[in-house]
Amino acid sequence: MKRDLKVTIIGGGSSYTPELIEGLIKAAGELHLTRVVLMDINEERLDIVGGLARRMAQAAEAPFELELSTDRRAAIEGAHYVINQIRVGGMAARVQDEQIPLCFGVIGQETTGPGGFAKALRTIPVVLEIAREMTELAPGAFLINFTNPSGLITEALHRYTQVPVIGLCNLPIGIEMRLAKAFNVPRERVFIDHVGLNHLNWLRGAWVDGQDVWPQVFEQEVAEACRAPEEKTFSAELLETLQHIPCGYLNYYYNRDQVLKKQLKAEKTRGQEVMEIERQLFEMYRDPNLREKPKLLEKRGGAYYSTAAVSLISAIENDKQEIHVVNVMNQGAIPNLPPDVVVEVPCVVNAQGARPITTAPMAPQILGLTQQVKAYELLTVKAGVEGDRRAALQALLNHPLVPSFAIAQKLLDAILEANRPFLPQFFG
Ligand code: G6P
Repeated sequence: MKRDLKVTIIGGGSSYTPELIEGLIKAAGELHLTRVVLMDINEERLDIVGGLARRMAQAAEAPFELELSTDRRAAIEGAHYVINQIRVGGMAARVQDEQIPLCFGVIGQETTGPGGFAKALRTIPVVLEIAREMTELAPGAFLINFTNPSGLITEALHRYTQVPVIGLCNLPIGIEMRLAKAFNVPRERVFIDHVGLNHLNWLRGAWVDGQDVWPQVFEQEVAEACRAPEEKTFSAELLETLQHIPCGYLNYYYNRDQVLKKQLKAEKTRGQEVMEIERQLFEMYRDPNLREKPKLLEKRGGAYYSTAAVSLISAIENDKQEIHVVNVMNQGAIPNLPPDVVVEVPCVVNAQGARPITTAPMAPQILGLTQQVKAYELLTVKAGVEGDRRAALQALLNHPLVPSFAIAQKLLDAILEANRPFLPQFFG
């Protein structure tokens, strides 16, 4: 007999939630889903998003109860899966994360560089509390973390808690979907050799039905970069040099000067654009006649995030032995990275969780950057948990986008000051 499943979404008032609800409705049968709890500290957002979620569930005659809660402990109690998608400090803090680095001539981005560092410092204390509550109130439950910087947050949870945690990102599934479309097969028949860290990874192999299609995939990527260079993030020369296909976030490293110039000229940061999209989305969500996820949601970056989460939960719950690309402890999967750091790699997922598949070492042309960013991540975790100012400065000093010690110092002062209300570990 399958158990009755309770799934709790922390940060349930997110504008992304309707997409997750859509996925949960579709998979409710195979998950044996009986309870979904949307939990948020922002009651107004929770009511609006929750209202739409209710209408969606009713229209689809979903078999689960949908509860809205501002009480995190009650929401977590008895859950089998907790999906974490909180944004500590909200969009306003994101905009600050994007703007502060620019004041010092450094790229401003919500997950990469000093912006991601600031977001991690705000988020770590809260996720550690969530993990503590899970240990007490939902022992054995899986924590599926989406909150960015997803790999770094997963690293903190692995190092400082006992909760089974899997870090998730929508980018790997996006690659699988793209290849599935190109080869005209369902996603399940595509396997990608994806290696690195969250938002710092490369594609270096691909198979369809067990057949090696990498030469075609790589050549196609190079050909497109030659044909329409202005549409592509990476040049054919870069691809040929690397012999890997970088994920979009590597733009901030490989094309740093161009990106910085563009950011300095831009009228709005991405966070400010998202604020406007969210304003429109929430207006739509309020409409009592709306019963489905609006098309406008596609303007956000999280495509397929719901499929990634729901299919992962189903693989665990139904002991599917499926392969998913997720963030877990390396355990030797990438032989030339330490075994006890979180990496983003293909894993076999079954009732026990996600076990990374042993792969080839990382090639030197991608290894150095990965090691440096991992060092930055580990130092950020230490700073985020312990409120250790020296570790925080060491983290920024080690980040490849931070050009000097003097700028690292200025950045740290500005970031700590701007985030004071969210940094109990530093300010008590
Ligand atoms: C991508 C990333 C996510 C990120 C999102 C941002 O999908 O993988 O980690 O949250 O983009 O999208 P946004 O609409 O907030 O800029």
